[in-house]
Amino acid sequence: MPGFLVAKSGPEMVEEAKVQNVLYMSPEARAAFERAVNVVREELAELPARDAEAFVLRLERYWQDLFDGLEPPYGARGDFAVFLERLVRLLAARYAQRPEDLKALDLERNLTPDWFQSERRIGYVFYADRFAGDLAGVSERLDYLEELGANYVHIMPLLKSRPAGLDDGGYAVSDYRKVQESLGTMEDLRGLCALMRRRGMSLCLDLVLNHCASEHEWAQGARRGEPEYEEMFYVFGDRSLPDEYEKTLPEVFPETAPGNFTPIEETGKWVWTTFNDYQWDLNWSNPRVFVEMTDVLLTLANVGVEVFRLDAVAFMWKELGTDCQNRPEVHDLLQALRACSRIACAAVIHKAEAIVGPDHLVTYLGTDAHHGKESDLAYHNALMVHLWSSLASRDTRLMAHALGRFPRKPANAAWATYARCHDDIGWAIADEDASAVGLDPGAHRSFLSDYYSGTFIGSHAGGAVFEENPRTGDRRISGTLASLAGLELAQETGDDVLLEMAVRRILLCHALIFGYGGIPLIYMGDELGLPGDHAYLEDPNHRDDNRWMHRPRMDWKRAARRSSQGTVEHAIFSGLRTLVEARNHTPHLHAATGVEVVDELHPHVFSFVRPHPLGPLLALHNFTEDVRYASLDVPRGLGMTAPVDRISGGAPRIMGDEIELSPYEVLWLTDAS
Ligand code: GLC
Repeated sequence: MPGFLVAKSGPEMVEEAKVQNVLYMSPEARAAFERAVNVVREELAELPARDAEAFVLRLERYWQDLFDGLEPPYGARGDFAVFLERLVRLLAARYAQRPEDLKALDLERNLTPDWFQSERRIGYVFYADRFAGDLAGVSERLDYLEELGANYVHIMPLLKSRPAGLDDGGYAVSDYRKVQESLGTMEDLRGLCALMRRRGMSLCLDLVLNHCASEHEWAQGARRGEPEYEEMFYVFGDRSLPDEYEKTLPEVFPETAPGNFTPIEETGKWVWTTFNDYQWDLNWSNPRVFVEMTDVLLTLANVGVEVFRLDAVAFMWKELGTDCQNRPEVHDLLQALRACSRIACAAVIHKAEAIVGPDHLVTYLGTDAHHGKESDLAYHNALMVHLWSSLASRDTRLMAHALGRFPRKPANAAWATYARCHDDIGWAIADEDASAVGLDPGAHRSFLSDYYSGTFIGSHAGGAVFEENPRTGDRRISGTLASLAGLELAQETGDDVLLEMAVRRILLCHALIFGYGGIPLIYMGDELGLPGDHAYLEDPNHRDDNRWMHRPRMDWKRAARRSSQGTVEHAIFSGLRTLVEARNHTPHLHAATGVEVVDELHPHVFSFVRPHPLGPLLALHNFTEDVRYASLDVPRGLGMTAPVDRISGGAPRIMGDEIELSPYEVLWLTDAS
């Protein structure tokens, strides 16, 4: 037998075939599919034949993904077949209710599955109340989003959250089927989605998968001790198992919510609460949780939501003796959920919110058997962390090394790139990466916390330490882009040089996330350099959580200055507009194009290449306040004889055999010849 045939054994070959994205159906899946089709035909009987046929075709196309996702967590249960039938009926029923215009969008997206990877996709993220009062206010502000160039609009949690005030910024949902009353109604949300759709904007909504509020009706049932509701959570009669789990569990909020379990007053039992005591972890090993959440997702998709930000997914599966994060079953569940969307609301995509270590990040876009089948988007936390690390050290070697060895993402998925978000920044830098460039990992992380909390001598940053963990030495950081980049300090001290550098730093942050690949997310206010909001200290519901310092209210007076030359707001807003224009006209930035970091080019200039059929794009970023020179060897090696910078539209400044970069300058070079 020829060597290549025996090199891999049967099961290995099967695994490899899955990775290659081969479309197939296993005999077990085929048998289940035949049963499913019969069920579906009943449910779709009232629909026009072509609609019903489209559903069956999608069911067939994504059946194996669904089956492979559900089999590991639930396949061994005696009621697996019943569960599958229930789920399939649900998919068909929600599809049958899907409005015509959304069904048309489904078809369009089936033809353009890369719609979210386009270089023209630009994200903006805000709290509805802080940006515009409520949902009706948001619809009044769509012109502003359009002016900025944003067409992927993430409105922070807006579903009904617990009434008591403390709700973790809306991440403690008490009713997934209602909009928070102060923001509007489900009808308002439907109307807003339709308005946005007409402008080519897609709405992204948080769907908190890992937990719900202690006031949710499921939690209320569990408080009453009703077994069917207790089974939707992790409820323990005493501390023995929780104590066992605690031995290997980290703490997310060590200062404000230590430990991972909370007593249930009414029953004297204990419930798993990874985050705050009022956020009860849902038990995804119970298939009912899967069905209920899928129903919520499809219902909201039918309202017009196009992107679901699946919150805190890393924690969705628990296993004794582990840290209960990133378990294999999480990836199975996410693949199955995506298959459900592809079948019943094909226009919809999923974004995984998994702020995990660099080695796990790419797995949320689907690796190995999940390759390209798991989440369409995931946050590039490592890019964000290294951005701040390099800005503090003025040295890009660690960043180049770490991102240079970053695993390739599946071509059909994309990163969500960001310079900061509504959460804190944790220094997720792999020890081996720091050591590889001669840094002591712990000392470097500690330096970054000192630097960004402003205690390091010479630091320009005005952030604050978030949730110090004395056990691990961890100190995460809060702060707006303006405060971390030094703008706040420059404005307070009236230091013009610092001000100029801070504006450049902010634009470098944006240029990096615009060029690196994926959807760049601009956090509300960062387009204007809005300062932090210290009023959170006066709000009893916010004062213990300093992440509120970087969730300011929109200052529309400041925003008006964006058209007045000479103001900081104008400098940042117009700089950003230039980037938007450049990005829109640079097809090399389509997210299917990979990123190859150029290691070793320069210790202060971070560089990468985006290989593209139109020719390569070379991006250069000067991470210092000094003029730097980068060798022309790299662009020449890429075959560029007449490089042109797509941001300025002009030729780069060449000095001898080098390209000159002014402080914090970014160039996107392609060949004009
Ligand atoms: C996510 C959110 C964060 C929240 C947590 C718990 O990480 O981004 O704000 O605290 O989930 O829901």
